[in-house]
Amino acid sequence: MPNQSKSPMKRKAKMYIAGLAGLGLIVLVSIYNCTSSESRQANGQKCFFCDFAHRRQGPPPVLEVETAEYVIFKDKYPAAKHHYLAIPKEHFDSLKALNKSHVGLVRRMEQGMMEFLRSKDVDPKEAIVGFHLPPFISVRHLHLHGIYPPADMSFGNRISFMPSFWFKKSNDAILDLEGRDL
Ligand SMILES: *[C@@H]1O[C@H](CO)[C@@H](O)[C@H](O)[C@H]1NC(C)=O
Ligand SMILES: [Zn+2]
Ligand SMILES: [Zn+2]
Repeated sequence: MPNQSKSPMKRKAKMYIAGLAGLGLIVLVSIYNCTSSESRQANGQKCFFCDFAHRRQGPPPVLEVETAEYVIFKDKYPAAKHHYLAIPKEHFDSLKALNKSHVGLVRRMEQGMMEFLRSKDVDPKEAIVGFHLPPFISVRHLHLHGIYPPADMSFGNRISFMPSFWFKKSNDAILDLEGRDL
């Protein structure tokens, strides 16, 4: 009996791994495609997030938090019950555009996100807080994700938001910036 149940289990594990690899690829490709279609936002061109942060256009945005430096609002396509974005008012394409002089800004954005999550009765240690890395960014304006609970997330989103070469947790991003030149 134990021998009989072993091989289907193995097969299941193999199928699971194959599925994981396949899904990962699909997610990467879809993130990449999304990036290419929105790349016009770079180089001082029109940026939706800049307009949003400065309340420049359209209906007044619903901002959960606003400081002189950054705003926090709900993600339009939430990956879980709680999914917020913190974006600086100043335009930066992504983490790649930052250097050591921006460590303070990123720390304060992270701190703001953590405080906001706490105000929603979310333990920030249990949340996913981090940045996508180019070219896997959906919008070319630096944005910090805060997501909870991870258990709510679809399989594709778990891959999209897992620490990897396409997603960096905020504390790793800060360590990385601290190591850069001014
Ligand atoms: C670092 O960022 C600051 C502020 O944006 C900028 O003035 C400076 O030139 C940057 N340094 C490098 C090496 O890019
Ligand atoms: Zn912008
Ligand atoms: Zn993102």
